[in-house]
Amino acid sequence: MGLRDWFQPRMLDWVMRQMNELRSEALAAAEGDVLEVGFGTGLNLDFYASSVKSVTGLDRRAAEGLPALEERVGRARFPLERCTLRADGELPFDAGRFDCVVTTWTLCSIRDPVRALAEMRRVLKPGGRYVFIEHGRAPSAATARWQDRLNPLWRRISDGCNMNRPIDRLVEEGGFELTGLERFRHTGPGLLAHMYRGVATRSP
Ligand SMILES: C[S@@+](CC[C@H](N)C(=O)[O-])C[C@H]1O[C@@H](n2cnc3c(N)ncnc32)[C@H](O)[C@@H]1O
Repeated sequence: MGLRDWFQPRMLDWVMRQMNELRSEALAAAEGDVLEVGFGTGLNLDFYASSVKSVTGLDRRAAEGLPALEERVGRARFPLERCTLRADGELPFDAGRFDCVVTTWTLCSIRDPVRALAEMRRVLKPGGRYVFIEHGRAPSAATARWQDRLNPLWRRISDGCNMNRPIDRLVEEGGFELTGLERFRHTGPGLLAHMYRGVATRSP
């Protein structure tokens, strides 16, 4: 294991733990067999409600060898499967396989988010839910302009994260109908603090 492979999941885990206070509320609508795209270091595992029956965690990276991740996996009270692959390609699941798809702070870094969303929609049962919390484009035009200016640099230093994506629009472009959406400013640097928390269903 190289230094980068050791450091990257630890750094990700530390940064993303700062979001833990938002997880329970965001994940409250998740239920049944869940596909979690952008599983990261498994931080959501401790926050799923008892309505969740199983989780399939998918990520482009495995984050192996992280003791905190193994502890979370060990504590999970539902069957958990993990797979390492990119979400913006074809997913190896039958259409309608999952009751629910979850992303938390992941659409920002998927290279082709609309393609990934369309594939998430395919593997979701008719009537199933897409549950998400993401950061994205600010409602204020002035802040959004700064996000656009700084995004190319930010993307380069932050492992492909984009700060300026209009999450609600992308979700709809991916074939979902928003049934609930809250937008709010969380703590932390303003350019990264604009949250989109929502639930969507497959549009017909
Ligand atoms: C900011 S982290 C969030 C991790 C986790 N969802 C959380 O809430 O702590 C974004 C995650 O998305 C994953 N990711 C980015 N692009 C991806 C892709 N195309 N396919 C699958 N996973 C991807 C990254 O590897 C990373 O684990």
